[in-house]
Amino acid sequence: MTARTVERIVTGRPASDGGGVRLTRVVSPEQGLDPFLLLDEFDSNSAADYIAGFPSHPHRGFETVTYMLDGHMLHEDHLGHRGDLKAGGVQWMTAGRGIIHSEMPQQEAGRMRGFQLWINLPAADKMKPAAYQDLDPARIPSVVADGATVRVVAGDFQRLPAAGHAPARGPIAGGATQPFYLDVGLDAGAALALATPAGHRVLAYAFEGAPTVGGRPLAKGQLALLGDGTSLELAAGAAPARVLVIGGRPLREPVVHYGPFVMNTVAEIEQAVRDFSSGRLTDVA
Ligand code: CO
Repeated sequence: MTARTVERIVTGRPASDGGGVRLTRVVSPEQGLDPFLLLDEFDSNSAADYIAGFPSHPHRGFETVTYMLDGHMLHEDHLGHRGDLKAGGVQWMTAGRGIIHSEMPQQEAGRMRGFQLWINLPAADKMKPAAYQDLDPARIPSVVADGATVRVVAGDFQRLPAAGHAPARGPIAGGATQPFYLDVGLDAGAALALATPAGHRVLAYAFEGAPTVGGRPLAKGQLALLGDGTSLELAAGAAPARVLVIGGRPLREPVVHYGPFVMNTVAEIEQAVRDFSSGRLTDVA
C-alpha cells in the first residue's frame, strides 16, 4: 500500500453559468485534470442565485454527473425524458454524440446545494448515442463505520484495512475511465482510510468542515490534487467534516474544449458547432 499525498491544493472560485446561476468552480478544463473536466459546487439559500437554472443547452463528447444535496432540479431533454432530481439523488448523463437538455430548480425558496462533475469520454465513445441514469437516493449505498458515513455514488469503496470489511459498489460502475465517486462524512475526530486504484487521478474536495486529506489540512472550499498511490487517508478535526472523493483513469488523449463540447480535435469541435446550428447534434448516425 502506498498512501497518496497531496501534490497541490486548489481553491474554488466564484463563477456564473447557465441562465445566471452563481456557483463555485472547483475544477475547470484548463487545469488538465484528465479525465475530469469540470467540478462546480452550487450552494445558496437565496433563490436569486439559482432560480434561472440551466435553460436548454447542448453537450457533446463527455459525461455529466449531477449530485443534489439539498433542493431539487427538473431535467428534460430533446428525447422527451423528464426526471426530477431529488436531494441525495444523482443524475449520470452520458452526452455522447449529443444531448440538448435543461436543468431547472423546482423550488422558489430554500437551500439549493449540489455538485456537477464533467468526466471526459475517450475518442471511441464520444459519438455514441446519449444515455443517462436518474438514481434515487435509495439506490446509493451508504456505508457507516467508526464515525464515517460513505455514500458510494459510483465505483467501489473499500475501507482499509480491508480485513473484515466487504467492498461496496455504487450503482454506476465501469466505462473507459472506471470512475469512483464517494461522499465521505466524518464525525468530529473520526478517520478513514480507503483503497484507490493505482494510476487513477484522485481529487478530494472539502465541502464541510476542515478535514485532513493525504496528511494536509484543507479549509472548506479547497480541493486536494493527490499524487499516485493505492490508498487515501482522511480525518476530521475537532468538528465534523465532509469530503467529495473522486477518482478516474486518465484517458491521455488530446482535449479540445469549446463551451459545451469536448472533443479531441479542432475539426471535431467545428463539426459539433455545425451539427448544433443545423439541428443535427443529436442525430444518431
Ligand atoms: Co447540462
